[in-house]
This record gives sequence, C-alpha cells and structure tokens, in this order.
Amino acid sequence: MTPKRQAARARRVPPAPPCVMVIFGAGGDLAKRLLAPALCNLAQAGRLDGGFKVLGVDHNAKDDAAFAAGLGAFLRELAAEGDGASGPTKVAATAWKWLEERLFYQAGDFEDPATYSALAARLAALGGQGGGNALSYLAVAPRFFGDIVERLAGAGLTREPRRGFRRVVIEKPFGTDLASAQALNARLGKCLEERQIYRIDHFLGKETVRNILVTRFANGVFEPLWNRLHIDHVQITAAETVGVEGRGGYYDRAGALRDMVPNHLFQLLAMTAMETPNAFEAEAVRAEKARVVEAVQLQSSSEALANSVRGQYRAGQVQGHEVADYRREPRVAAHSRTETYVALKVTIDNWRWAGVPFYLRTGKALAARDTSVAIRFKRAPGRLFGAFTGSPAANTLILQIQPHEGVSLAFEAKRPGPEVELAPVRMDFRYADYFAAAPATGYETLLYDAMIGDATQFAGAREIEFAWRAVEPFLQAWEDGGRVHGYAAGAAGPRQADDLMARDGRAWRSIG
Ligand code: BG6
Repeated sequence: MTPKRQAARARRVPPAPPCVMVIFGAGGDLAKRLLAPALCNLAQAGRLDGGFKVLGVDHNAKDDAAFAAGLGAFLRELAAEGDGASGPTKVAATAWKWLEERLFYQAGDFEDPATYSALAARLAALGGQGGGNALSYLAVAPRFFGDIVERLAGAGLTREPRRGFRRVVIEKPFGTDLASAQALNARLGKCLEERQIYRIDHFLGKETVRNILVTRFANGVFEPLWNRLHIDHVQITAAETVGVEGRGGYYDRAGALRDMVPNHLFQLLAMTAMETPNAFEAEAVRAEKARVVEAVQLQSSSEALANSVRGQYRAGQVQGHEVADYRREPRVAAHSRTETYVALKVTIDNWRWAGVPFYLRTGKALAARDTSVAIRFKRAPGRLFGAFTGSPAANTLILQIQPHEGVSLAFEAKRPGPEVELAPVRMDFRYADYFAAAPATGYETLLYDAMIGDATQFAGAREIEFAWRAVEPFLQAWEDGGRVHGYAAGAAGPRQADDLMARDGRAWRSIG
C-alpha cells in the first residue's frame, strides 16, 4: 500500500471521544518521555477530539502555563537528543501546538484528600456539565496505585456519570509477587468495575506483538502446525543492550525476573500459546490468555532451581561502549545478588503443548537488542539426505518483535550444483518493506484504546495473577539457594544458560 493510501486509511479511524486525561505523576519521566509524545502523535494522526484535555497532577507547585512551558522545553530537548531505544522522539510542531493549548495542571500530594477535592472541582470545570469523560493515568510509583484509586473513589471520581466514563490506567509493575498482585486487584476491585481498569503492559502496544495473533490465526499455513506434534520447542527472548540506566534503586530490588518475566515475557508466551479467541475483543482474548497462563506447570523448588539460570553483568563492552560492573551502578548494593539476566524453562500442561518446552530469557547489557519468539519445528527425518549431506536442520519461524520488526522462516534449500547438498536459507518479511511507519512511542494505540474503551490490549486481572503464580517457585527457590553467575557486559549471557539448553540437546539462537 502506498504511504498516501495508508494515510487515508489511518484518517478513517475516528477520533476518540472527548475526555480529560488526568495524569498522576505528570512531572515524571514516563509522562514526559512517552505519554506526551504519544499524545502529540495521536493528535497528528487526527485520533484526538477537539475537546480532549490533559490535567497533570503532581506535587510541584506550578500553574497551567508553567506546566505547558516545562513540557514543551523537555520535548525540544528530547528531540535534540535524537531517537532513543523507545523510538522516534521528534513530535510534529503543529501537534505540540494543538496539545499545548489543552494542558492544565493541578498541584497536590497523591496522599492528601485535599488534592482530590481540588481535582473534582477542576474536572467539573474542564469536563463541562456532568464532568464528561475522565481517564486517569497512574504514571506514579507502584506504592501509590491502591491509594490513588481509593482516594479517587472517595472523592466520587470513579462513579461514572450517566453519559460518560471514568477509567483508570495502571502502570507496571503490577505487584511484586502473587500475594501483592492479588491484594492490588482486590483493592482496585472495591473501587472500580473490571471494565474501568486498564493494566498497561507496553509490550502489547507494539505492532509486532499484536501481529503474533494475526500471523497465527489469519494464515492457514501456520495454525495447523502450531502444536506438540510439529513443534519441538519455543524460545522467547528479550535481550537488551542497555544497563539499568539510572534506575538502580528500583531495579536492584526487582531484578530481571520481576521486571520482565511475569509481564512482558508471559504476554509473549500467552499470545504464542493461547487457543483461538472467538473475537478480537477484550473478554475473549483475555480469557484465552488467562487459560493458557493458568496451564503453565508449577515447579517444585528443586525443579525451579534446575530450570533457571540467573546472571549479573560485570564490566565489559557493549557495542564498543564501556559498561561498568552492575554492582557499581548508582543505587545498587555493592554486594548485590540481584539478577540482571534470567533464563527459564517452563512447560504448559495442556493437549496443545504437553512436552514442548518454552525457554524464556531476558537480560541487560547483552551483545545485541533482540526481542523475538522463535518457534523451532521438529526436524525432518534425515535418511533421504544422510548419504549426501547429513540431516536437515530444523525449520524455525522467528517472530521478530524488535529491532528489525518482521517474521522470517528458516528452512532448507538445495545448494546449486551436481550434488544434493542442503543449505539453510530464509524467507524474510520486514515491516519496513511493506508499511510506512508512523512515528510512534508504542503508547499511542494503548492510549487510544483506553479512550475508546477497548481493553483487548491490556492485561486482565487473572492472567497477571496466574503469571505471578507460575514464576513464584523460581523466586522462592532462589531465596533458599542457587547462584547468580557473572557475565561480561556485551556477552550473550552467562555460560550456564547455554548449559540449560545443552542438557536438553538444544541451543539458544544467537541474539541480534
Ligand atoms: C520495562 C522494564 O518494562 O521494559 C525495563 O522496566 C525494560 O527494564 C523495558 O528496559 C523494555 O522495553 P522495550 O520496549 O525497550 O523493549
């Protein structure tokens, strides 16, 4: 499709209904780095209504004009820095001007009831009669999630007016273990209907993650093979080149598992492994995802130890840049045992997947950025070729989430020549070859969906709880034992992660 036709198609998507987006933590990094550019991109694409407004809430005293000026200056700096790992940073000047006129600010402490009465008055003024629609976005530290929602409810701000919505977007991390996730769900559930809660997992905003379901279910060629009869194993990788990027205080308490696995990696697992939902709508999709995550086999302590490898980066070089030892990062304990890399083997106990291991790995300061799902099919029998060339290699379907977004299939071909000699080749689909990418932070679709009331790309309460339940045995087993292996920054992870695969006669795909 030509860029012109794509733009025309994009224009056909109607703007979201007018609403006031209340951003708690409006002065924070997430709001400034991701939400503001995403709103500009939405405005540029014509997806926001003329009546859209932002009401920033944070503790610093400032007025509407100072809030807008500060954000404008920040966005100009961001654009000057150039594109970062989270995508293009430059927003269209016309879009910023459009947004700037719609920015309002309310100073207040998140734990002070006075903030919420002031907020109620502000919302009534901004939203017009009846208060209109309000979308509260909690871009704040997780300890505030429950409190803010309870205080919103206390001020009557979660009660939906007759013609209007009250929705709340909760950022991650959603809990730090099963008990805390359950407790948070219970607290939210006392103040909000489930349909009012939007739990963000920004991986679900990535086009290529959404494409997993299309690849699987819109193509007759894949789904019939998508099971234990034809698939040998699945590898899910989220390799990053960045270190902890000044987030040592949070990260040293969380570690790679909590930071990435029950949320992002399990979302990839769920989309790869779920049964076909009956519709692309929230209830159907979330129910299927929850069902497959529920079927992840719970491991005993000794199984969890045997099926996991933890690593922590030491000084090294990542793509030519010196990286210091993790334990020397600001706000990281000098003798920290927190993992910056984790590899896990899990299995899913249902008819589709019994006996097919899912290997998950994620880490910081690795050799390359590579987020992907690799489906390794069973090997073809080798007898026919053995005499000439040895057994054929197994086919692999790679769903490449980032950085080179696309899908590719590795298969065997005949090398030209008189002999029947096999050669591995690839069929490659790259998004960039077919579609003009609009500037995006990954939050655009998620924000738009929350405004139109489509929770399909948001995590449901049950899938989050089942994911915590599945990873908890690892956390518990590590409390009692197991080592954290060092790996040089710039490597592919600790050597022991290779052993985890080698034990099963398998190997990781090389990253990057
Ligand atoms: C975040 C984690 O949720 O996801 C970060 O807290 C991580 O530690 C990031 O770097 C990865 O997201 P992306 O979109 O850069 O792959």
